[in-house]
Amino acid sequence: MTDKPLLFTPGPLSTSKATKSAMLRDWGSRDTEFIALTREISLTLEKIAGVEQGAPSHNCVLIQGSGTFVVEATIDTLIPRDANILVLVNGAYGRRMAKICQIHERSYITLETDEDTPPTANQVTQLLKKDKSITHVLAVHCETTSGILNPISEIASAVAKAGRFLIIDAMSSFGALPLRVSNIKCAAIVASSNKCLEGVPGVGFAIVDKTILSNSEKNASSLSLDLFDQWQNFENTGQWRFTPPTHVLAALRQALIEHDADGGVEGRGYRYLENCETLIQGMKTLGFKPYLRNELQAPIIVTFHQPRIKNFNFAEFYSRLLERGFMIYPGKITKVDSFRIGCIGQIQKFDMKNLVEAVAGVVAEMGVKLK
Ligand SMILES: Cc1ncc(COP(=O)(O)O)c(C=O)c1O
Repeated sequence: MTDKPLLFTPGPLSTSKATKSAMLRDWGSRDTEFIALTREISLTLEKIAGVEQGAPSHNCVLIQGSGTFVVEATIDTLIPRDANILVLVNGAYGRRMAKICQIHERSYITLETDEDTPPTANQVTQLLKKDKSITHVLAVHCETTSGILNPISEIASAVAKAGRFLIIDAMSSFGALPLRVSNIKCAAIVASSNKCLEGVPGVGFAIVDKTILSNSEKNASSLSLDLFDQWQNFENTGQWRFTPPTHVLAALRQALIEHDADGGVEGRGYRYLENCETLIQGMKTLGFKPYLRNELQAPIIVTFHQPRIKNFNFAEFYSRLLERGFMIYPGKITKVDSFRIGCIGQIQKFDMKNLVEAVAGVVAEMGVKLK
């Protein structure tokens, strides 16, 4: 088992040895031990989402696949065919939710802001006031395209005040940034195993309001992505409808134990914040410019402008860093050339310092003069 390369990516990301090792046994998917494992994971995820145990307002529904699978399943299951949707877009993942609405023939409009600009609660309030036909709002918490933090708590209050339903894509924030259904009113929060929870990829989950879920039978236009059916099967049998990603779940259980040991959401968020600050400080010292203003930056992933100077070539920069054991990530914003460096996963402050040192070495080798 090797630690190289170390991933500075938004997931899949670097995982601990114990999480990888948890995959070294086989599980029978219909066996009681695996049924208990599934239940334990669901309850732990509910706890992280602030669901009160005893009389839970929300239930965790696990589903096979990457993050997009659970986003699609949630939209298609929870939103009736005659609904009208407002999608908040300031990056690729908001845009993807709009595409899901389009494919599943749900009527929608978008509120689009620039990739470096969060939507405001006031904009949402005004729009919902103007268009009474809107029933549902879809929002991304941390838009991983740029790394921007959207004001989800304020947006949730605006949507709740207007009496509409909110679905939150918290893919890249769940487990590291506070998001509790006890104080953020929402129909659902969706996320996956392989981001801030530091599991391996292969399973997503939605923390869904139980009343809304109970009323969502026959909304879905897909069999495998029908979250209602998936939920019913878990409720009735404790089992997965179709082959579960057994090893992924075993790894996730270990990752959740480590999440707790890290100090839960608060502890993990703090480590990522330290990583993020160390990275930005170090890269600024070298002459790199972050894309976002500091107050908009989530401690998840940082977008940097590609230097527009002679000798800088991203492909070469990337491969030279990889040769040194550091894997960074290409840019995704649409208007400027950029690259991204993730702050999440099994990486510590000293790894960020080592990465910045490696960047300094690579830049010198390439003959790039940043200052
Ligand atoms: C905010 C957000 N939503 C959705 C997704 C889609 O997840 P996946 O690529 O696992 O399908 C991602 C992936 O990075 C994401 O960051």
